[in-house]
Amino acid sequence: MINGDLWPDNKGVHINAHGGGILAHGGQYYWFGEDKIAGVEGRLAWHGVHAYSSSALIHWQDEGIALAVNDDPASPICRGCRIERPKVIFNKATGRFVMWFHSTNDKHTLARSGVAVAEHVLGPYRLVHARRPDAGRWPLNATEADRDPATAGVAAAVGESAFGNGEWDFNTRHNILGRDFANGQMARDMNLFVDDDGAAYHIHASEHNGTLHIARLTDDYLDHAEYVRAFPNRWMEAPAMFKRDGRYYLLMSGCTGWAPNAARGAVAEHPFGPWREIGNPCRGVNPANGLGAELTYGSQSTFVLRLPDDRYLAMFDLWQPKDFIDSRYLWLPVVFTSEGYEIHWTPEVVIGLQRRG
Ligand code: DGJ
Repeated sequence: MINGDLWPDNKGVHINAHGGGILAHGGQYYWFGEDKIAGVEGRLAWHGVHAYSSSALIHWQDEGIALAVNDDPASPICRGCRIERPKVIFNKATGRFVMWFHSTNDKHTLARSGVAVAEHVLGPYRLVHARRPDAGRWPLNATEADRDPATAGVAAAVGESAFGNGEWDFNTRHNILGRDFANGQMARDMNLFVDDDGAAYHIHASEHNGTLHIARLTDDYLDHAEYVRAFPNRWMEAPAMFKRDGRYYLLMSGCTGWAPNAARGAVAEHPFGPWREIGNPCRGVNPANGLGAELTYGSQSTFVLRLPDDRYLAMFDLWQPKDFIDSRYLWLPVVFTSEGYEIHWTPEVVIGLQRRG
């Protein structure tokens, strides 16, 4: 597979699983992502979450829609809503597959977390809830200033509509965490990460995307148990967490809508941090568009996959916002360093796993 080219599935159709991630389960890989249609309308969910399966990560079989939209205007997954960045994990205790996604409307204002479950990896997934998480719960690292009812009240009076993407100074002037304490925190771009001990984490952009929240999930993976704020007012999107040799890593983007920006890396000794930024991990240039690290080769992060032989692949979306179905994929190797990690441009997706049945 050449990075940035069309990636045909078993039917010869370009893989349609954007903003996605991969679950390794039972000797197979499952790729879940946003099903897109052609044109600008492809930003909305017309079908749902698309699933593919593969034994060695190069040849993918179309497994259809795992979480389907419906035609109920009152439903959070009504046709024409937005279902973004879906990720699936397996809960060993319940034996269920759990999908989280950013659940929102055409206007992109709801900032909710959708949770769906299934007994079988490929679904069908049933929606459990779509809501803003952490209502009535402070982050573990909340400060006295965060808990100040006076500043929370001022922010509540200003409301949400005054806070738009990129209006950076609103977040430094207003206590958005306090404003949202009672009714739940905003949750947009997201990922899931399962630690070696089975503890699962939901990493999501919050507070109008200004600050990332990292939540440990409850034992059934259906809700948040506790959370922290990370990278206050750094406007991180597209987070992907991974772990190697006891250290935790984050790959993220900045916040510029569908337009590419420079990736950001961070390292910590625990999923809750403290996180140390290590700058832009990307190296090299994508010759197809001439874009290098300054614009993440024209792409945005979506997931980091650990391979069985201790290699890691960073997955990116090359968004095509005028024709979403034509969005492409970059899968690039992660190289670990004493400081953290680097991501190196390679023209080809090299995986080289033995087929496992
Ligand atoms: C950037 C996010 O990373 C995408 O998932 C999507 O939400 C766009 N913003 C929408 O503008």
